[in-house]
Amino acid sequence: MPSEPRVTLQELVENGHLDTVPEDFLVAEKDRVKLTEDGAAKVELPVIDMAGVEHGVVVEQIRRACEQWGFFQVKNHGVDLQLMSRTQQVFREFFELPYEDRNKIRAVAEHDALPDEGYGDRFGVKESNSANWSDRLRLYTFPVSGRRYELWPQHPPSFRDTVEDYCEEADKLTSRISELISESLGLEPEFLNDYFAGRSQQVLQVNYYPPCPQPDVTMGLRKHSDNNSITLLLQDATVGLQVKKDDQWVTVKPVEGWFVVNVGDQIEILSNGRYRSVEHRAFVSAKPRMSIATFSAPADDTVVGPIPELLRRAEERPRFRAIKFSKFKKSFYYAGWAKAPSGKDHLGHLLIDQD
Ligand code: OGA
Ligand code: NI
Repeated sequence: MPSEPRVTLQELVENGHLDTVPEDFLVAEKDRVKLTEDGAAKVELPVIDMAGVEHGVVVEQIRRACEQWGFFQVKNHGVDLQLMSRTQQVFREFFELPYEDRNKIRAVAEHDALPDEGYGDRFGVKESNSANWSDRLRLYTFPVSGRRYELWPQHPPSFRDTVEDYCEEADKLTSRISELISESLGLEPEFLNDYFAGRSQQVLQVNYYPPCPQPDVTMGLRKHSDNNSITLLLQDATVGLQVKKDDQWVTVKPVEGWFVVNVGDQIEILSNGRYRSVEHRAFVSAKPRMSIATFSAPADDTVVGPIPELLRRAEERPRFRAIKFSKFKKSFYYAGWAKAPSGKDHLGHLLIDQD
């Protein structure tokens, strides 16, 4: 039986005139954001100019960023800047609709499984775990045959065309970044795209963080690593994203027209741990914030393990067991992510003893 969804956080905030954060959303002291102690604030996430003059230099910058950060920003990436801002605009308009209209595409649990697509406040997080200060709109966008248009907003009328164009461009950019990552690992440019056999999935997730009356006692999105292969993130002008670097949280300042890129767990496994899928999180403030993530992931039946050629060349032993992506996701949602705050516990079960 599909259960009746609760009110979204946005609805709770808008109708409840909250002046404190409800208990459900409180996070433990140690997991709270301490912006005043942001000692690493002077460290900045690498910026890669994708129209950079020398290809070899760009590849080298990617290698360094992936080894040292697991995260980087890209500019001159080829995605039309107007399309990026139009996309932000149509999502903003969706979150400004009356909630009766938004609720038409509410995500519901099916066959007792947690909801995975549509508009809602919790995906993959059981009711018993405390919640993130955010709502999301989550849509499976590639392959095209998997699109469930009944879960796409009908308003504004330009929504569908705009988002389809955006997804296409994000997919092309991801594919170019995959080529650069392949090269940075000393492999043929097409290596990773071939590994995924042109069957990668893309999930678009818009995170909406409502204004928060007590930003220091909750979290927009708790610390986690992404379970997929490559993520592109388009943020609006409000700060929120933090990336873990040398055990410190570094705040990533949004820059209009740039993307934040990170490698997910699948790249950590494929690269045998050379490139790490780094923990990150989002804090909130008195201002609303919206970020648009496109997660590129292997097809569900793709088996992902350390790349044999890399192991051979470096005379390394595999550090992870190979696993089918569908199985990996299950362990992510049920063993790791659901036990908020989860961090990266879900990779542990794949580790091979190195003795
Ligand atoms: C995510 C994510 C960060 C942000 O959606 O996985 O990490 O700034 N988002 O919204
Ligand atoms: Ni993430």
